[in-house]
Amino acid sequence: MHVPSNPDVPFIRVSGLKKSFGEQKTLQGVDLTISHGETLVLIGPSGEGKSVLLKHIIGLLHPDEGHVELDGVDLCSMNERQMVKFRRRMGYLFQNAALFDSLTVAQNVAFPLKEAGVTNKDEIDQQVHEALELVELEEHKNKMPINLSGGMRKRVGIARAIICRPECVLYDEPTAGLDPIVTDVIDQMIIRLQKRFRVTSIVITHDMSSVFKIADRVAMLKNGVISFLGTPEDLRQSPDPDIQNFIAGRSGMCA
Ligand SMILES: Nc1ncnc2c1ncn2[C@@H]1O[C@H](COP(=O)(O)OP(=O)(O)O)[C@@H](O)[C@H]1O
Ligand SMILES: [Mg+2]
Repeated sequence: MHVPSNPDVPFIRVSGLKKSFGEQKTLQGVDLTISHGETLVLIGPSGEGKSVLLKHIIGLLHPDEGHVELDGVDLCSMNERQMVKFRRRMGYLFQNAALFDSLTVAQNVAFPLKEAGVTNKDEIDQQVHEALELVELEEHKNKMPINLSGGMRKRVGIARAIICRPECVLYDEPTAGLDPIVTDVIDQMIIRLQKRFRVTSIVITHDMSSVFKIADRVAMLKNGVISFLGTPEDLRQSPDPDIQNFIAGRSGMCA
């Protein structure tokens, strides 16, 4: 669906990214590149700044130092019009799915299209239908979010994140709190989007089975920097005790 504008330039390049909140140094020099069409999984302990990093990539937060470039263009240099255009290329699944409780499933999914200025009702209905089919929720389109299970809410969030046919989807813990079967459904959806539409994905997860299922590459954020970057196999083979503890779900602390 999407042809890279310049295959030699990485799709997303984060360089020397630093961000503090008051005294708290959260990101302390993050360097990371993401290629067109790849699925990069971001792991690391809670509170290390994974969500903060994602919010920089979509331009919701601005770096204290360093750069985020998309197709070689620095996000900070974009004017309002360029920013709107750029946002349309990205989809974002928030950590808690963040649905509007007063809107139906279909209205939630249609929301970004309307924001983007689409007014034709048939076009909206058609796009909503396609997005809901992809996440297998078409028959639930008239339900209210409160009547959905956790997994269904996440899938509505995914449908909403992809409705504008983004080139890149950022997923913040898409399977947190879900059972293994529903987790697998969502993992398969991420893989399907990559295969069918060549979507580039960045996925934050704590679920190691998801990591090994979906990742082309894995990055670990620790102490404010990318402390590991490699394939899932590299991760498995890593001699770093921190990484082995993380994979095994051990705290690494002595009793
Ligand atoms: N807008 C903000 N204002 C102040 N502190 C923030 C803000 N966003 C995140 N933080 C802090 O930055 C740290 C990293 O948060 P976060 O990126 O959510 O971690 P995680 O790796 O679990 O996703 C946390 O200590 C959090 O409290
Ligand atoms: Mg987070």
